[in-house]
Amino acid sequence: MITFVTKFDTMENRLTKSAILATFLALMPASGFAQLYKNADAPVADRVADLMSRMTVEEKIWQLNQAGFGNNKNINNIGEKLKHIPPQIGSLIYTDDDVSLRNAMQWKAMEESRLGIPILFGYDVIHGYRTVYPISLAQACSWNTELAEAMSSVAAREAKSGGIDWTFSPMIDVARDPRWGRVAEGYGEDPYTNARFAIAAVKGYQGDTLSGEGNIAACLKHYIGYGASTGGRDYSCTEISDQALWDTYIPPYQAGVNAGAATVMSSFNDINGVPSTASRFLQTDILRGRLGFDGFVVSDWNAVEQLVSQGVAADRAQAAAMALNAGVDLDMGDNAYAENLAALLESGDVAMETIDRSVALILALKFRLGLFENPYTPELPVEKTMLQPAGRELALRLAEESMVLLKNKDGVLPLDKQLRIALIGPMAADKGHLLGSWSGHGRWEDVSSVLDGMKDRFGDKVKYSKGCDFDGDDTSLFAEAVAAASESDVIVLCLGEKREWSGENASRASIELPVIQKKLIKELHATGKPIVLVLTNGRPLVLTEEEPLCASILEMWQPGVEGGVATAAILSGDINPSGKLAMTFPRHVGQIPVFYCERPRARRDQGFYQDIPTEPLYDFAYGLSYTDYTYGDINISSNADGTYTATVAVTNTGNRDGLETVHWFVTDPVSSISRPAKELKFFEKKQIKKGATVVYSFEIDPIRDLAFVNSKGEPVLEKGRYILTVKDKIKTIEL
Ligand code: BGC
Repeated sequence: MITFVTKFDTMENRLTKSAILATFLALMPASGFAQLYKNADAPVADRVADLMSRMTVEEKIWQLNQAGFGNNKNINNIGEKLKHIPPQIGSLIYTDDDVSLRNAMQWKAMEESRLGIPILFGYDVIHGYRTVYPISLAQACSWNTELAEAMSSVAAREAKSGGIDWTFSPMIDVARDPRWGRVAEGYGEDPYTNARFAIAAVKGYQGDTLSGEGNIAACLKHYIGYGASTGGRDYSCTEISDQALWDTYIPPYQAGVNAGAATVMSSFNDINGVPSTASRFLQTDILRGRLGFDGFVVSDWNAVEQLVSQGVAADRAQAAAMALNAGVDLDMGDNAYAENLAALLESGDVAMETIDRSVALILALKFRLGLFENPYTPELPVEKTMLQPAGRELALRLAEESMVLLKNKDGVLPLDKQLRIALIGPMAADKGHLLGSWSGHGRWEDVSSVLDGMKDRFGDKVKYSKGCDFDGDDTSLFAEAVAAASESDVIVLCLGEKREWSGENASRASIELPVIQKKLIKELHATGKPIVLVLTNGRPLVLTEEEPLCASILEMWQPGVEGGVATAAILSGDINPSGKLAMTFPRHVGQIPVFYCERPRARRDQGFYQDIPTEPLYDFAYGLSYTDYTYGDINISSNADGTYTATVAVTNTGNRDGLETVHWFVTDPVSSISRPAKELKFFEKKQIKKGATVVYSFEIDPIRDLAFVNSKGEPVLEKGRYILTVKDKIKTIEL
């Protein structure tokens, strides 16, 4: 191979020489070219075939492996670092932010491997890279997919300049159990919402073309059903009927595949006894055969060897054979493919065609990303690449739009600028916890705390007192907090969860606030001053005890770097809150799972809990505003092509401009199988100026929006009545 870049070159020289080489190769004609795979103008399939014709079996097997590299900040995976990474390795999870280290490793691959195949560098860019945005659950509450797409695009650009080619995102696991810590990482309880945000994320990360500047490959995860983990316990098994699979779990993946997602990650859980990572039915028949996915599947971290703990493989070798034969192309983390595939090939447990198929898919992505032409990342000063003003501005808008006003008694909010404010609570001055989980390259010093934001807006009207810690039983700071409250007109109380209380391996049996935080609320309530509760958390909480003690409640989620500014903007009224819940808040943990789209009960007037109300505390799609909206009647017209157009006029009858999301639900009241009480089929967010009326419309395609999918995944459209609901308005369509 051509090796005119040497290890004695500076990185700048290497970059220049690589560029010259790429230009030279690009000018060479495709036909008759000595090494076709190096010709950027040749079709990807031809380049893959040419390269594979030159590879040894050992080189092919190395392409199917991914290891960790750098300073691994995922505490669940510590200890997995590989000391001696071979230059032929297919992919690395790059946990460092040192671009030169990444380039040095890439140089090793390009120059020390026989064929110079670049490494694919992956990383968990979940809700931002250095600029950290609100967690995905919060993003869903914004109902603003344009902002989510723009955020993913900025995250991709930052990640790319940090040496990342591929993100393990979006997570689109429909999740209905808030005890599961990973609800923070997805877009809530509804399949359609997850589908819409999946599309936004894929488009944002990948742009128009994978090789475009600042674009990275996306990964739909965790395929499939991980959100159904029993009891909300992470990594546990699931029971998912074929009907639920098609109704609830597949739609986001179908949407993400249709949007062009380059990769998919297999999930940890088993489904009805078969781990997804070992399921040919799921990984090949459904994913490729039915959903039309043509990229590659990566296992989740150690998911291959975990087939042993899950009791379906006797050892790592059998696990490797099962996963590869199922259709899992790249082995993340556990080295089971690297260690076993050669012997499995020999024994006939794995076929050469199977290995070839997986290698071809992985190489195809490397070509599509342009890695053969541009293997190195320019080493630019971080001031030029990270935390750029436009990205921070986006973080602010997304934080503002994703916060949900849950209660506002007597219009306590927005706060008058003349009021004396006691800003209390362990979250008030905190920065790190506002980042949320999976914010590996986020830094607490980039974050504006609520205290920062409130001081900026209200100046010395704000008196801060910590009150207590997040947990423990130390009440020694209570007295100071009560004194601050007594001297003020209103209390802004910032409570919630530490960032590590949600995310991976962070299941919780109780999703109430810790006892010490509850005690603090009670102490402050006794002062008689109105309490505005501001919550930072990664999951819905049970707030039944706190709700009556607070005049207002603002759910700020884990809002990222601009969280404090956004919160203060909402509390002051400069921003009118517009977020609505993408996940139900239970009244009691005993209600879980509780979600909006359950199927109707056999006895509609019976079957309620005898000890608590059956209704949740806050419903899906619930959220208040500082203005009022009045919905007109729904109008439906039928179109010549068999579709329908439904419209509803919404008037802003209050005295502030606002952003209102309209949710369109469909109910199929009589069907050959019982259908959910209602299902979200479309949503749209628009600005409505005070006094103005804006018309929202929903184009109804009967097969897409009225049919149901049966347990075989086929759409079934039945004659009869369908009910369309928007807020408190109802209209019927007769088919
Ligand atoms: C998580 C994945 C993540 C991977 C790599 C696993 O433990 O389940 O979501 O992408 O680690 O960090």
